[in-house]
Amino acid sequence: MTSQAYLSELFSLDDRVAVVTGGSSGIGRAIAGALARAGASVVIVARREAELAATVDELTADGCRVARVSADLSTRDGVRAAAEEAVRAFGEPDILVNSAGINLRPPMGELDEATWDATMAVNLEAPYLLGQRFGPGMAERGFGRIIHITSQQAHRAFVQSGAYGVSKGALESLARSQAEAWSPYGVTCNTLVPGFVATPLNARLSSDPERMAALAARTLTGRNGLAEDFEGAAVFLASRASVYVTGQAIFVDGGLSVH
Ligand SMILES: NC(=O)c1ccc[n+]([C@@H]2O[C@H](COP(=O)([O-])OP(=O)(O)OC[C@H]3O[C@@H](n4cnc5c(N)ncnc54)[C@H](OP(=O)(O)O)[C@@H]3O)[C@@H](O)[C@H]2O)c1
Repeated sequence: MTSQAYLSELFSLDDRVAVVTGGSSGIGRAIAGALARAGASVVIVARREAELAATVDELTADGCRVARVSADLSTRDGVRAAAEEAVRAFGEPDILVNSAGINLRPPMGELDEATWDATMAVNLEAPYLLGQRFGPGMAERGFGRIIHITSQQAHRAFVQSGAYGVSKGALESLARSQAEAWSPYGVTCNTLVPGFVATPLNARLSSDPERMAALAARTLTGRNGLAEDFEGAAVFLASRASVYVTGQAIFVDGGLSVH
């Protein structure tokens, strides 16, 4: 067996279909690209058309099969409509990546109900609803991969974690519940836990060089994360190679969480 055949057997996503929410920006965009380049047909879901189109154009030019759905995941009806539109592109997904997320940072004393609801809707309810929509089908077909993107704030308070940290902590619990339900049927459910990654999500913080340097110093690698740091871990979790990894939170954070 050649090394290429061996690697392909472990990691190839040929003939797989993936849905990646938030696949038009930051970590989700890097993951969508990685899954597509590893062979999957990928549907990216987000609101803004221009960013979606730019991502599809870039990946299509690279020979990938990619489609886009413009949808707002902040309402239950929006999530349901997004799911139905997503399956129209390539069929029911084998892989679901929940990367769409928002981080509104009012100080705890000013955290109002609207901010709480908006955060829970996008960061927690959308992944729950998409899991309910796609998980049982994956289990019936005997293969599935659900990957949530959480945060160090699922584990510790950091820069006004407020509702955001709560939503991410709950998302890790959701992954464990999903893993409990569907792992016996070949569906693994895990989370990737970023440290600090400069993306549009944290534009204000990442435009402050001093704070960026201080955050980098808190890692073991000496630098902050890049969206592309998630590519390998995402392909691993989406592939056959991760068959016995389920219910886990996998930190892709340069050692931030252990420093
Ligand atoms: N960057 C970090 O340091 C960091 C750290 C820990 C965890 N994370 C997590 O990693 C994930 C990705 O974050 P990122 O840094 O890559 O952020 P990002 O660049 O801001 O990307 C967020 C994505 O989510 C989409 N999105 C947001 N609200 C949406 C909605 N209501 N409906 C549909 N799509 C929506 C955005 O597209 P539209 O705006 O066009 O809808 C965009 O594609 C998030 O879950 C975040 O919490 C990031």
